[in-house]
Amino acid sequence: MPAPSLPWLAPVIAHRGASGVAPENTLAAIRRAGELGASWVEVDVRRAASGELVLMHDATLDRTTNGRGNVAETPYETLAGLDAGAWFGPDFAGEPIPSLEAFIRLAEELDLCANVEIKAEASEAEEMGRDVAMALRDHWPAHRATALISSTSPKALGAAAKAAPDFPRGLVVDQVPNEAALREQALGCVSVHTNNFFLTQAKTALLTRLGYAALVYTVNRVERAKTLYAWGVAAIFTDYPEPERWR
Ligand code: G3P
Ligand code: MG
Repeated sequence: MPAPSLPWLAPVIAHRGASGVAPENTLAAIRRAGELGASWVEVDVRRAASGELVLMHDATLDRTTNGRGNVAETPYETLAGLDAGAWFGPDFAGEPIPSLEAFIRLAEELDLCANVEIKAEASEAEEMGRDVAMALRDHWPAHRATALISSTSPKALGAAAKAAPDFPRGLVVDQVPNEAALREQALGCVSVHTNNFFLTQAKTALLTRLGYAALVYTVNRVERAKTLYAWGVAAIFTDYPEPERWR
């Protein structure tokens, strides 16, 4: 059965916000994406030790904050006091780690569509899928184009589908698997988000034939984007999301 389409998708998605010019997964990076004219942003979500959902890519705090240790072992109260901007540049010093709810409010304010990527360890995949989907169901305004939920974990996606079936889902892969594995892992998904480094024209054709929108991360070179679009790729995730760069 072909997956449902994603008619409101834009060809350019700001990867972790405008992460080439602002610290990834911060509200500053989301605002910058909006200022640059992006209409879609992708963010990564993890869970604090105390249960709150926050925007963070890495499992550890070390690279993008002034904290140390695992996000999942740090209470929200501590996460909320960390600096997630200074590592990128002095102009962003004091930029906090945002909660998922703060991101949803800003996306509404800026009229941005969103791809929320669930980053989950295998042991917590179902719980994370359910909780992220419930947060979107409860806080994403019903009148807005629905956010796209994605994950490398089919378990997380399955749990998200149960909790909030109206939100479309995308499977994140490093390499596109064979057809049988793809059908199984991307069951019910509208899209497959795949690594630019490994993608071929034949794999793009497979995704398209099976009815999945092909989304490709991370693309920062215009010539490569042109090739991908010519293959039928629906959207690229880029750190430089100003649409005119990619036309
Ligand atoms: O969801 C697309 C892309 O963000 C996946 O890679 O590591 O940047 O989250 P990563
Ligand atoms: Mg991501």
